[in-house]
Amino acid sequence: MFNLRLNEIFRAQLSQEEFDKLSRFIYKESGIKMPPVKKVMLQSRLQKRLRELNMTTFKEYIDYVFGKDGLNAEIIHMLDVVSTNKTDFFREPVHFDFLTSTVLPEFVQQKAGSRTIKVWSAGCSSGEEPYTLAIVMADFAEKNPGFDYSIIGTDISTQILQKAVDAVYKEERVSIIPMETKRKYFLKSKDRSSPTVKVVGDLRRRVRFGRLNFMDNYYDVPETFDAVFCRNVLIYFDRETQEKVINKLCDKLRPDGYFFLGHSESIMNMDVPLKQVKPTIFKRL
Ligand SMILES: C[S@@+](CC[C@H](N)C(=O)[O-])C[C@H]1O[C@@H](n2cnc3c(N)ncnc32)[C@H](O)[C@@H]1O
Repeated sequence: MFNLRLNEIFRAQLSQEEFDKLSRFIYKESGIKMPPVKKVMLQSRLQKRLRELNMTTFKEYIDYVFGKDGLNAEIIHMLDVVSTNKTDFFREPVHFDFLTSTVLPEFVQQKAGSRTIKVWSAGCSSGEEPYTLAIVMADFAEKNPGFDYSIIGTDISTQILQKAVDAVYKEERVSIIPMETKRKYFLKSKDRSSPTVKVVGDLRRRVRFGRLNFMDNYYDVPETFDAVFCRNVLIYFDRETQEKVINKLCDKLRPDGYFFLGHSESIMNMDVPLKQVKPTIFKRL
C-alpha cells in the first residue's frame, strides 16, 4: 500500500519541451500524429516504460532515446506504447459480406481460382481482422472446392503481433460470432476461470504475420495481392502521409484487385490508382 502511494507521488512528469521532442520523433518514425491534447496520454503510457527501464525522469528517458545506443533499441518499444490497437472480429461486417458475395466469386470466375488468392491485412493489430478473413475464406472454400487462399498480417507493433501469432482471445471477444462458426474455428480453453478461445490450427496456418512500418520507403513483402485491407490505420496520419502509404500499398495490389479502407477514411482528392466501387471499397486501376 505504502509503495503504491510512493509510486503515485513520484510518477515522472513530461514537460512541454520533452513532449514536443517525442511527438516530433514519433511522427517522423511512424506517421502517427501526436497533437498537444495527447500529452497526458503519452505521459501515462510512457510512465510504464520508464518503470521497466528503472528510470525516474523523462529527462533520463529522452537522453537514452536520443543517445548513441538508445534510438534503435527503443523505437520498437516506443511505437508499441503509442499505437492504438482497437480492433474486433468481423469489424465493419459489410466488407466481409462484400468479400463473400462479390470479390471471391469474381476471383473464381476470372480463373484466379486455379491459384492461391492472397489477401493482406495491413495494420492487423492483434489478429482479429486477418483471422476474420481466414474464417470467411475457409467458409467460401468449403462451398467452392479447389479455392485456395493465404493471408498476411503486418503491423508496426511487435507486442501486438505476438498476440496475433498466439491467436488466443478472451471468450467475450468472439461473442458476436455465430455459435456454429465458433465451434468450427475456435477451441475453448480448459481453464474456465478465465475463459479464452484459440483459433484452430488449420486457420492459423493460413495466416502469416510480420512487422512492417508504413513509413518504410519500400514495403518488403514478396507477393502481389488480390485484396488489401488497410482499415482504421490511416486516420492517425496526415493527408500527405496517407496518400504516400496508399500508393505504396497499391504497388503491391494487382490490377482489378480490391482495396478496403475503414469507415471514416477516404481517398477523396488523392492521386492514387484506385476507383471506388462502394463506400470505402475500391478497385486497383
Ligand atoms: C486501430 S488498429 C486497426 C486494426 C484493424 N485494421 C481494424 O480495423 O480493426 C491500427 C493498427 O495500426 C498499426 N499502426 C499504426 N501506425 C503504423 C505504422 N506506421 N505502420 C504499420 N502499422 C501501424 C497500430 O499498431 C495498430 O495495430
